[in-house]
Amino acid sequence: MDDLDGVVAEALEVFAAAGDPASLEQSKARYLGKAGRLTEALKSLGKLDPAERREAGARINAAKEQIEGALAARRDALMEAELEARLRGEAVDVTLPGRMRARGSVHPVIRTWRRVEDIFRSIGFAVADGPEIETDWYNFTALNQPENHPARSMHDTFYVEGGLLLRTHTSPMQVRYARTHEPPIKVIAPGRTYRVDSDATHSPMFHQVEGLWIDENISFADLKGVYTDFLRRFFETDQLDVRFRPSFFPFTEPSAEIDMAFSSGPLKGRWLEISGSGQVHPQVIRNFGLDPERHIGFAFGSGLERLTMLRYGVGDLRLFFEGDVRFLEQFA
Ligand code: FA5
Ligand code: MG
Repeated sequence: MDDLDGVVAEALEVFAAAGDPASLEQSKARYLGKAGRLTEALKSLGKLDPAERREAGARINAAKEQIEGALAARRDALMEAELEARLRGEAVDVTLPGRMRARGSVHPVIRTWRRVEDIFRSIGFAVADGPEIETDWYNFTALNQPENHPARSMHDTFYVEGGLLLRTHTSPMQVRYARTHEPPIKVIAPGRTYRVDSDATHSPMFHQVEGLWIDENISFADLKGVYTDFLRRFFETDQLDVRFRPSFFPFTEPSAEIDMAFSSGPLKGRWLEISGSGQVHPQVIRNFGLDPERHIGFAFGSGLERLTMLRYGVGDLRLFFEGDVRFLEQFA
């Protein structure tokens, strides 16, 4: 009984040392629980005579109050510390930059693809799609380029087993489409093409758009009109010069490369080849399953990267395929 002060001092020390509510509640039982030190002391009062009992009882109660007070204070302190720690953990630094979701956008070459489709659709052309893995026959032979034809060497590509290859141009789509549709045939076929090429104006994978218009009287003059009008609409200006430069393709006769240059603006006077073209060769018309005495017309095959370079003033088309967001986001 005389060590009550010692019990109180010990309880205060133990409570202070409790680092969290759970261990605090555990140590509380040691003093105030059923078998706790103070409870034991209260039980022993019965053995004392009445005068001693009153005096001892008062001391025990005072000690109990002290311990209960210390317990409650420690409880509050621990709860407050816990709350503070939680708030600190959940704190938001409002000065940090926001986590913005980067907005994706359409690739500049695909933008060109869509513009080209819109323009040709508006003048009555259908839009067709075809395989990037092509047969040797459609890619070369049907286009008047039999095996060992020297023009094949300019179109080296990946050959796949079974006479298949990555198409080197979209021209096989002329044959695929013409063999499955009746004249008048008026179609464009945009898509990916592949060659062993790499410099500022050539990439190993690139996009072309094929154009084909076959009827009974479609001439080279129609080609010039349609294509020049297309370029003016594509670039939204009349300030451009178009040059049909005599050339050779085994599948057209006569043939021309189409070059263009702006006649004003920052790119003024810089010529760039954007397309091959010509009147479809009689043998190719036959391969379409048509009679060249009756059906004639023009075809062209244009580079979508070249059109995109001119539209945006990009000097090196390899930039389109490096995936550098700093470059691409300029077109967003
Ligand atoms: C052809 O591919 C012919 N099939 C075009 C054609 C179609 C002629 C119909 C007649 C009738 P050429 O190899 O010139 O032709 O390529 C056509 C266009 O594709 C070029 O003018 C150029 O704009 C683009 N081009 C060619 N090679 C590449 C390349 N490696 N990278 C980017 N663009 C290219
Ligand atoms: Mg060419």
